[in-house]
Amino acid sequence: MDSSSVSVGLLGWGTVGTGVSKILVNQNELISQNAGVRLRLAKIAKRTLPASSDGFRLPSECFTTKPAEVIDDPDIDIVVELIGGVTHARRFIVRAIQNGKHVVTANKALLAEHGFELFQLASKMKVSLNFEASTAGGIPIIKTLKESFAANRIESIYGIINGTCNYILTQMHEEGADFDEVLREAQTLGYAEADPMLDIEGIDAAQKLTLLTALAYGFNIPLRGIYTEGVTKITQKEIQHAHELGYVIKLLAIAKRNRGKIEARVHPTMVPVRSMLANVGGAFNTVCVIGDAVGPTLFYGQGAGEMPTASAVVADIIDSAKSICGHTDAHVPRGWLSESQSDVSACPIDAIETRYYVRLMALDQPGVLAQVSSIFSAHNISIASLIQKERHETDGTASIVMVTHEAIEKDMQAAMQKIDALDTIKRTSQLIRIEDEVAF
Ligand code: HSE
Repeated sequence: MDSSSVSVGLLGWGTVGTGVSKILVNQNELISQNAGVRLRLAKIAKRTLPASSDGFRLPSECFTTKPAEVIDDPDIDIVVELIGGVTHARRFIVRAIQNGKHVVTANKALLAEHGFELFQLASKMKVSLNFEASTAGGIPIIKTLKESFAANRIESIYGIINGTCNYILTQMHEEGADFDEVLREAQTLGYAEADPMLDIEGIDAAQKLTLLTALAYGFNIPLRGIYTEGVTKITQKEIQHAHELGYVIKLLAIAKRNRGKIEARVHPTMVPVRSMLANVGGAFNTVCVIGDAVGPTLFYGQGAGEMPTASAVVADIIDSAKSICGHTDAHVPRGWLSESQSDVSACPIDAIETRYYVRLMALDQPGVLAQVSSIFSAHNISIASLIQKERHETDGTASIVMVTHEAIEKDMQAAMQKIDALDTIKRTSQLIRIEDEVAF
């Protein structure tokens, strides 16, 4: 091993494993700058060696078909288990931990069933067992519960943590589609587990809820202790009736305190149509955590997929690597180093490019619009839509409301100065920038 780097071995190279490799290779420098650790992708164990046509190419010596060449290699510091399933994954993780390696896994089924044994063993061997990607994919809810909410007594958790079910229910609500048809679509889009029954019967969400409950309440509830009802019985009738009553049906994973006990349940639930949970659509996940100090908080993001899940896996790898290197959080964050390590500089407001809402208060007389549009045109600003409101009763001005196409701020400000100086414009115009790309 290079003494300044931490070596990582992967078990499994499917969708997530490929994403992890891409990040480790392409973002190596960024990770080193952000986290102060240098990661080296040393070995990948895969059932069959990759074909040369496989999308992301790595040197062939990176690959092996023998998991032992990762687990037992004394040069590998961190083993990342991405093979899924329980039997082999458990055996490999136990051996890796016994070999003194830190382990990262995305395997919720394994931890729901064998978490107690594996965490006890990791603690005995003084290694970390990190599992951010096991629940809600790219949303960093595991670390948040472990660390950021450590000062809170958690009151309740409400999660949409199965993207497949959320996609199905969203399509049923929005498109009036039937359950079977949408399930097939979800499988084609790659959201569903290898066995989709785990998704649609609520088991995947229940496995994830056992992990959230263990972190939030210090309570290792077994899977069979979680009331679990899936979405297979939901028909268009329920969807429509819910709609008429002002609700949307979501598969919720719920954990909450109830007179000294913890409720932990997964089932289709009606939530008010205006609530934030109701508006989490498609395969997206969300987790709402209510703590006694922090109050309600909401996390939203992609719960599955190559890069969101890989992002969570690599975050875990970085955490383990930092502990291997003995890092504390006393290091100066990148933005505050004496020598800037950034490859970017500040963009002045003049240079931004966006769409604008403009309201002019103009005299309602011929030629005003012609003056305004010629100023816009001279500054490369194109109008996307325009409404003129009726004349104001007291001062005789009319509001002209416009939305522009993308324009450069500098041009916009110059145009507005000229427009506001026109005799026909009676008050300073209103200008509001528009962000159409906001994700939620
Ligand atoms: N099948 C899971 C889902 C994928 O639909 O959310 C990630 O756990």
